[in-house]
Amino acid sequence: MNIGVLGAGQLGRMLALAGYPLANRFTFLDTTGHPSAGIGEVIILNLDEEPDRRHLEAFLEKVDLVTYEFEHLPVSLVQAIEEVKPVYPSSEAIRVCQNRAEEKALFDRLGIPTPAYRLVESAEALEAAARELGCPVVAKSVTEGYDGKGQAVIRDPSEAADAWRSIKHPRLIVEAFVDFVREVSIIAVRGRDGQVAFYPMAENQHLDGILRYSIAPMPDLDDSVQQTADGYIRALLDELDYVGVLTLELFQTRDGGLLANEMAPRVHNSGHWSIDGAVTSQFENHLRAIQGLPLGDTSARMPTCMVNVIGREGEAAEILTLPDAHLHRYDKSERPGRKLAHVNLLAPTHDALLERVRACAALLPDAPAPCFSFE
Ligand SMILES: Nc1ncnc2c1ncn2[C@@H]1O[C@H](COP(=O)(O)OP(=O)(O)OP(=O)(O)O)[C@@H](O)[C@H]1O
Ligand SMILES: [Mg+2]
Repeated sequence: MNIGVLGAGQLGRMLALAGYPLANRFTFLDTTGHPSAGIGEVIILNLDEEPDRRHLEAFLEKVDLVTYEFEHLPVSLVQAIEEVKPVYPSSEAIRVCQNRAEEKALFDRLGIPTPAYRLVESAEALEAAARELGCPVVAKSVTEGYDGKGQAVIRDPSEAADAWRSIKHPRLIVEAFVDFVREVSIIAVRGRDGQVAFYPMAENQHLDGILRYSIAPMPDLDDSVQQTADGYIRALLDELDYVGVLTLELFQTRDGGLLANEMAPRVHNSGHWSIDGAVTSQFENHLRAIQGLPLGDTSARMPTCMVNVIGREGEAAEILTLPDAHLHRYDKSERPGRKLAHVNLLAPTHDALLERVRACAALLPDAPAPCFSFE
């Protein structure tokens, strides 16, 4: 089975690493001009050159089915591919998940709670929305955001004009700023036959909009909260007739409630812990799902923490002296804010795990101090 992947970054690299034992082959279609997968065959498609059909056709000839690791693609491109080869998840899923307005409308329709929000198309409307919702608010471009890019926090309505200018996007979503206890995510996988499996939720620590640490399972998570999250993501999966891995990022509030932040139609950074910490990783389960194979067990083997390596790498020889530490490097060059690698740490108890996480952070030049809600 030759699997075509739209996008060619580290998520695609890790999909391929999980797929080789299943005798899968991989062909990546890159539309950014900067592929980094470093594995499989990469075909570069220039979206600005109208008749670049030759590269698309070369890609389609090679692959049996198509999936993606990057959702900021023209929906028309995915629809054109879908006419020739099976695409999982569908172009409809990507259409909704790449647009924050569509995403929120779907959350509303399915009764999944989200922070209060408004859609605006001018600096004046942004200021009015900030007044109505009450500051602080977060303004985000409706499309193309990642790692906190295309966002601004507005602490007073008078800052709206500056925020509008800095984001440079014709359409923004403005959200009430949530005073959360912690950020969490739920990852689930749905097979071609509609079977669904849920991973234990992760607690995620961000700095400047970039994920730094994910820990799963959480030591203090109520079963009822996991069940609520399972219910939300199941509703999304079923509504979209989704095949593959879907991620839902949530805020947990003081009363234990959950508010949906955003979703990603793909494997996710907050699920990297599952490579070493779960019986079946999110990458393997995604590949099983899209090929119509039985889904694997999603349970955790042990408390696990994923530590992102961002901007600068530490010494591999030092990191690998930590017990039960697994270094996953993406073979990318160093650049501020760039995701270069992650370390998965496992330990029999959460206390022992936190000790290993602190020891690991001390070996990474730009790592912030780990700080979890349950400490
Ligand atoms: N309404 C909000 N209230 C409080 N904090 C928020 C809110 N929206 C976003 N944030 C913070 O900013 C981070 C990034 O926001 P969000 O997940 O919407 O953007 P993103 O750039 O698409 O991120 P990703 O890298 O996950 O794709 C969140 O993880 C959270 O820490
Ligand atoms: Mg996010």
